[in-house]
Amino acid sequence: MLKIGILKALSDQVTAEYYSAYLYMSMSAYCDQAGFKGFANWLYVQAQEEIAHGTHIFEHILDRGEMPQLGQVNAPPLDFAGPLEVFTKALKHEEYVTSLINKIASLARDENDHATYNFIQWYIEEQVEEEATASLIVQKIKFIGENSAMLYTLDTEMAARTFTDPFANTNTDAADA
Ligand code: FEO
Repeated sequence: MLKIGILKALSDQVTAEYYSAYLYMSMSAYCDQAGFKGFANWLYVQAQEEIAHGTHIFEHILDRGEMPQLGQVNAPPLDFAGPLEVFTKALKHEEYVTSLINKIASLARDENDHATYNFIQWYIEEQVEEEATASLIVQKIKFIGENSAMLYTLDTEMAARTFTDPFANTNTDAADA
């Protein structure tokens, strides 16, 4: 059982994580069409991670005996000015997601919901990593500037990223919940 405010905040976070997936898919599509196949791959893998983040929260809500209050996933932007804008927007978005996660932690603490407080700690750690990764990519692209050979090298490096489900050993089957 969850208090109504926590149910709402967790449900909204499912929607926010799925929006993140949508945003990264749009960024991936843009990069693909602009010829940056490595960036496109990296962003597509990121979108898969976001779906895993959202689904894990969805399962937590079910595990607590509640109905997830799924909301509308908004349309993401479709056009970008280049890789620098893509990753600058990704960093800004992750900073926003961090603020949402922090609010859930504060709410859980204030409501003495220790299970949710404990659950959300993984996301707090994850956001540190997500912001650091996006920030580093922004720094690299800024450093590269107009050097297309270096940009091509970075694009090639980013083609190597593969998806690993961060919750592979912890997800419960929703059907068994
Ligand atoms: Fe699920 Fe990128 O935060």
